[in-house]
Order: sequence, then C-alpha cells, then structure tokens
Amino acid sequence: MAPQLSTTFTGLRFENPFLLSSAPPTESESNIMRAFDAGWGGVVTKTIGLHPVVNVDGPKTKFLRSMPDSPQMSMRKRPGAVLHSSWNWELISDKPLDWWLPRIARIKQAHPNRILVASIMAGSGSDEELRHWQTLATACQDQGADALELNLSCPHMDRKDMGSNIGKDTELISVVTEVVKQVARIPVWTKLTPSTTDIVVEARGAFLGGADAIVSSNTFPSLPLIDPETLEFEMNVDGLVSSGGLGGPAILPLSLAKMAQLTQAFPDRSFSGIGGVAEFAHALNYFLLGCGTVQVCTAAMLDHAIGPNVIKNLIAGMTETMDKHGWKTLEDFRGLRRDRVVTHSKIRRPDAKSYHGGYDEAEGYASETTTTSER
Ligand SMILES: Cc1cc2nc3c(=O)[nH]c(=O)nc-3n(C[C@H](O)[C@H](O)[C@H](O)COP(=O)(O)O)c2cc1C
Repeated sequence: MAPQLSTTFTGLRFENPFLLSSAPPTESESNIMRAFDAGWGGVVTKTIGLHPVVNVDGPKTKFLRSMPDSPQMSMRKRPGAVLHSSWNWELISDKPLDWWLPRIARIKQAHPNRILVASIMAGSGSDEELRHWQTLATACQDQGADALELNLSCPHMDRKDMGSNIGKDTELISVVTEVVKQVARIPVWTKLTPSTTDIVVEARGAFLGGADAIVSSNTFPSLPLIDPETLEFEMNVDGLVSSGGLGGPAILPLSLAKMAQLTQAFPDRSFSGIGGVAEFAHALNYFLLGCGTVQVCTAAMLDHAIGPNVIKNLIAGMTETMDKHGWKTLEDFRGLRRDRVVTHSKIRRPDAKSYHGGYDEAEGYASETTTTSER
C-alpha cells in the first residue's frame, strides 16, 4: 500500500501536512489560489487586523547570504552566494478585514478540501481590543475559514499591546485565547514567540485559555548587519534600524529546540512546526519531535512567491522517506525522537563512575575506586 500523506490535525483533515505560513506568500487571493493549485495542504492567511497598518518606507524583507569559500555575509546579491536567512520588519496585512472576507469565502468555495486558516491579531490593552479579537474570529469563521491562528508572536509590532508583546505575557495569552474560544466554532491555534526564556510557560497559558494547538516559531528578534565599507545597516530608513525578524535556514536548529521543549512538556497536545523548512529532511525533524503539521515561509518566498517546487519536493520527499522506512501514515513516525532530547547530565560520559552530574561526589559515600589511605 502506498504511504498515506493525508493527516488529521486539530480535527481537520489535511491532504498533506504542509502549510504556507502567514506571510507574503499568503497575502492575496491569487497567491492562495495558486498555492492550493500547487499542492499545499493548507494555507495560513497573512495576519488580518482591525487597526491601521502602515509599513516602513522601502523594502520590508531581504535575504542574508554567505559565500561558500569565505566567512563574508551580506544582503548584497553576489553570484554563488547561499541563503543564510531572511530578515523582515514587515507588519501584518495592510488590507482591511472587509477586503479579506469575500476572498476567504471565494477561496473556500474554489478549494473546499484544502485547509484555510485565518491568522488574526488585535490589541490587548482594553476590553474593546479584546472584543476586536472576537470580531475578527467570528467574521473569518462565518466566511468559511477552517481554523484561526492567533498571532501572539510578531517580533516587531509598532504597537506595544500587540504581537510578541502579548506572547511574552502568560496571563494575556490565556485571556486572548479564551476570549477567542468563547466565540469560535472552529479550532484555535496560538502562534507563540520564541523570544522568551521558557516557551513552555507561555504554552501552558495558551492551553489554559483553551488553545487547540501551538504554532512555533515566528521569526527571531534580530538586526541586519552593518556594511563594513559604508558603516550603514544593510537595511535602514534614513540610517535608522529597529529590531526585526530572522527566518529561513539559520533558525531551523533554534526553532527545533523550542519545539522539543514544547512537545516534551505536552506530549498529548497538537503542534505545528515552523522555521527554516525548505525540504522534507528539515520537516522530518519537526515530525520526529511530535509535530502534526509543518509550515513554510522563507523557502516559498524564494520559489515563485508561493513555493510550487518546495511543495512538490516536500510531497516527494515524504513519500520516498515513508516508503524507505515502511511507514504508512504520519502517526507511524510522529514523535519517534521526542524522548531522545534529554538534559546535558544524562548524556553518557567516558567514565560513568566518576561523573556525578557536574557536582563533587557526595560525601560519605566511598566509591569503589577510593584508595585505603583516602579512607
Ligand atoms: C516578510 C515576512 C512577513 C511575515 N508576516 C507574518 C505575519 O503577518 N504573521 C505571522 O504570524 N507571521 C509572519 N511571518 C513569520 C512567518 O510566518 C514564519 O513564522 C517565519 O518566517 C519562520 O518561518 P521560515 O523560517 O520558513 O521563514 C512573516 C515572515 C516574513 C519573512
């Protein structure tokens, strides 16, 4: 029997477990239609909000590249350079809710069997802002969105009561998730920021609020590099820069570390992995740690804006890998390596007897190697 790529995640049936994450590839109806035609199992819309959105002057995203034969890294285009990361300071969708609603309906009519997730964001500073979450949630679900993703993770909002500023406050995470759950008839996924000391704490807050899944990671807070010739940041407006988000290959190991913490702390919960995925070998890491779906942004941006080749390769890679290992469904390998991540002290030392977890040997217990004179 051929391997089965379809899977169920938070009660929704996906043709395959690969989604385009909330970002430029999902910012328009035509992009999302093309993405479904190309084979993506799901799409998360670019985040939709109710407040006015004005982006910075000039480019909002650039790509940092390194050279195979030198340590030099730059956003300047150079032949032979290879991708290190994406860097962006783009805000959420600058299109209003009314622009999105008929489009959500049309996309679902055209692709009833694909999963369309509406990413939403509002503030948290007042009851009115909390009601905005409910307005966004009900409006999107009434047009046929299959799930909601709460953006508590954007690292560079211009407003203090939004994005990762909510995602750093466990109570606000609970409150916002709960407020949305009060009106949601569809699954609610909470997208957390990776820039806290212990993401397990924030995830617990989301689950307490009723989240059906956790999504991680959004981009990591970071700066563009300074050009050594001009002494200017490689991305700036009038010479000024502010913290933005790093994505792409550089964050794959960072995001995996966050995911391992999450899936170990909540082995029975649902997780969607994001960060640095460009091919199935990358996605496999997230599945082996326990994720039920995987999302992609940077690799798709660089492949005809919506990643037609990326999804083709993800599907081919998954089929081939499952065939090779004799796996029939994703459940045959989901979480297989989750318990291999342990604390440092549990890693074997060459001489196990003389190792006491980094501490001196406990007094009063003579080891077998202790000499008579020491006694
Ligand atoms: C230009 C750009 C815009 C993004 N906009 C959003 C957004 O509106 N909402 C959101 O939740 N994440 C947004 N993201 C984050 C991505 O969805 C994703 O979490 C992140 O890029 C990591 O995935 P990657 O390594 O595949 O790029 C954006 C990322 C980029 C590069």
